[in-house]
Amino acid sequence: KKHISIGLMGLGTVGTGVFKLLNDGVEEDLVLGEHNQYSIEKVLVAHPEKSREVEVKEKEITDDPDELLDDPGLDVIIELIGGIKPARQYISRALAAEKHVITANKDLLARHGDKLLEKAAENGVKLLFSASVAGGVPVIENLKRITGTDRVDEIAGVINGTTNYILSQMAREEADFDNVLARAQKLGYAESDPSSDITGRDAVYKLTILASLVFGGWVDWDKIPRTGIENISSADHHCAKALGYSFKLFALARRHKKGLELRVQPTMIPRDKLLADVDGVNNAVKIVSPLHDNLTFAGPGAGRFPTANTVVNDLLSLYEEDLEAGLEKLQEKALNDSSSLLDRD
Ligand code: NDP
Ligand code: HSE
Repeated sequence: KKHISIGLMGLGTVGTGVFKLLNDGVEEDLVLGEHNQYSIEKVLVAHPEKSREVEVKEKEITDDPDELLDDPGLDVIIELIGGIKPARQYISRALAAEKHVITANKDLLARHGDKLLEKAAENGVKLLFSASVAGGVPVIENLKRITGTDRVDEIAGVINGTTNYILSQMAREEADFDNVLARAQKLGYAESDPSSDITGRDAVYKLTILASLVFGGWVDWDKIPRTGIENISSADHHCAKALGYSFKLFALARRHKKGLELRVQPTMIPRDKLLADVDGVNNAVKIVSPLHDNLTFAGPGAGRFPTANTVVNDLLSLYEEDLEAGLEKLQEKALNDSSSLLDRD
């Protein structure tokens, strides 16, 4: 099997998760194990001297991007530094050097995704970004299957974990906004500039990516109307609760005969609706299409391991046979493992 050499950009919340998954693993069963022909050869960070949760050899950690981008031995660059500058330039250079790129950077994808995808195609490599929307929830991954035979007419739901965490905590405890935001930051859910979450910009970026993928034509993120959650007070939560509603930062992209309807705004959801139960850092994305009618994916929308797992699965999907190997392993176990978990007597 071909050995795959990786350059990892960023060793923060998600980057550390990816590093752990590809090295020590988290629990024994979750390690890539014998399939692990992937190795992180170089790690780019802003502050190489900073103490880390994971052990990286001194010669493998650097603040010089050229050490990764000019290294012909690296097959894949995983970009997890975030933001536009310098990530845009690094990704462009990696694609031009015919390296596959995996990123979770929604800011960059929403603003420049069309150009970067073109560049990837020109150079015969892939740019994968499943973790850029809904963290650990397989939304982009499943769009591939749905749109093979079907047409998506609407995508809607909760696509920002930080604001959902804040709204849920405030509704439950009537806790103070700033305290709950500080907790979301400590848990690694919030963006480095949390105003992106709070003002709805992060959700707009994600909606841009989803809408562009399913409706054709890269959507202009800047034209999507948005309202954030910064003005929702404890008193508002109290009233909503009394009336049988929950506040959610709701994102909607809908196809109409005359064009697209797109928006992100706090919305009162009746408590008996599925979406009202999407609590904490969870996200939920509903996809409406003629053949599926209504399909909803829900789960952790942010956080280290859910997001890192999505990034690593993008990596495995570059070398499709490794996803197959995972499935074969499960099938083998199903056939051969006689020690059933259930006592059949
Ligand atoms: P963090 O802020 O935790 O980590 C950022 C990392 O990038 C740090 O290791 C930092 O180095 C490094 N870095 C920052 N700027 C530079 C630079 N100019 N040059 C080199 N290295 C740099 O970010 P996250 O891990 O939370 O997020 C990474 C990406 O993933 C972002 O695009 C984010 O939007 C996205 N994302 C995050 C999710 C989450 O739950 N956190 C979920 C889904 C997507 P140093 O450590 O030395 O400071
Ligand atoms: N800050 C983002 C969120 C991270 O809270 O949803 C996941 O994209």
